[in-house]
Amino acid sequence: MNHNILGGKKGIIFGALDENSIAWKTALKAHNEGAQFVLTNAPIALRMGKINELAKQCNAEVIPADATSLEDLTNLFEQVQEKLGGKLDFVLHSIGMSPNVRKGKAYGDLNYDWFLKTLDISGVSFHKVLQVAEKTDSMNEWGSILALTYIAAQRTFPDYSDMAQAKSVLESIARSYGYRFAKLKKVRVNTISQSPTMTTAGSGVTGFDVFFDYADKMSPLGNASAEDCANYIISLFSDYTRMVTMQNLMHDGGFSNSGITEELIEQLKQN
Ligand SMILES: NC(=O)c1ccc[n+]([C@@H]2O[C@H](COP(=O)([O-])OP(=O)(O)OC[C@H]3O[C@@H](n4cnc5c(N)ncnc54)[C@H](O)[C@@H]3O)[C@@H](O)[C@H]2O)c1
Repeated sequence: MNHNILGGKKGIIFGALDENSIAWKTALKAHNEGAQFVLTNAPIALRMGKINELAKQCNAEVIPADATSLEDLTNLFEQVQEKLGGKLDFVLHSIGMSPNVRKGKAYGDLNYDWFLKTLDISGVSFHKVLQVAEKTDSMNEWGSILALTYIAAQRTFPDYSDMAQAKSVLESIARSYGYRFAKLKKVRVNTISQSPTMTTAGSGVTGFDVFFDYADKMSPLGNASAEDCANYIISLFSDYTRMVTMQNLMHDGGFSNSGITEELIEQLKQN
């Protein structure tokens, strides 16, 4: 597919770690659809990941930024405008990490310093991105800013732990800042609630394989892949979705509105 629907548009893509990352797939598609953008990730991820491979394929520059650092973000937004020669039309926040999940802490035994880190990296950083975009006057009118979230913000999935709180914060920020940015600059702000996806962040959750299979069976269309998610993101960066803002958009093959499916009934009968 190539319809040049992002032709002439400029942006920033956060969070491409490796070829499984949702941000990685999005970058390839955005490039294919005619966008120009800068790739960014935390300095440590730049050292460990393979973002330079992606940058080459997309003819993009890489600028490091820890999304929790206002200084890094300000530097990023200022440099991007210079490098791309103008203001931005889209920003993708594709960032998530919980030290408690990573280190296997039980929900009844959370380390609170780590909890605050989870909230900062996975939730508050979205506010920081939005605030810095506003303060540096980086966005064009009708721009689109997106973050990725998960349905654990609304329903309990035990192993998702403190990431559930971070995602609730993230989605709430999209509504509050979405209002502000619409009034200020007609910029739209949304979150996409994505199916479980085989990526580094996804598979860090205990029992992910079983859980992935459960969600697949519970979704009439099956789980949405990272590739599907990237396509949806491109549509939300395009001019075809200009009036969509302040929403949490379910991209989950129907999971969120399903009570039970025949596949699960069959499986439960066999047990
Ligand atoms: N994989 C899933 O099952 C799934 C489902 C729903 C939503 N999501 C969300 O999608 C987004 C992208 O995750 P992914 O699945 O592509 O996994 P991923 O591991 O490829 O991407 C997560 C990214 O966050 C980056 N990151 C972590 N700390 C950072 C910091 N301080 N500053 C800047 N970047 C930082 C990592 O370097 C990495 O590139 C996340 O918000 C995740 O929660 C994932």
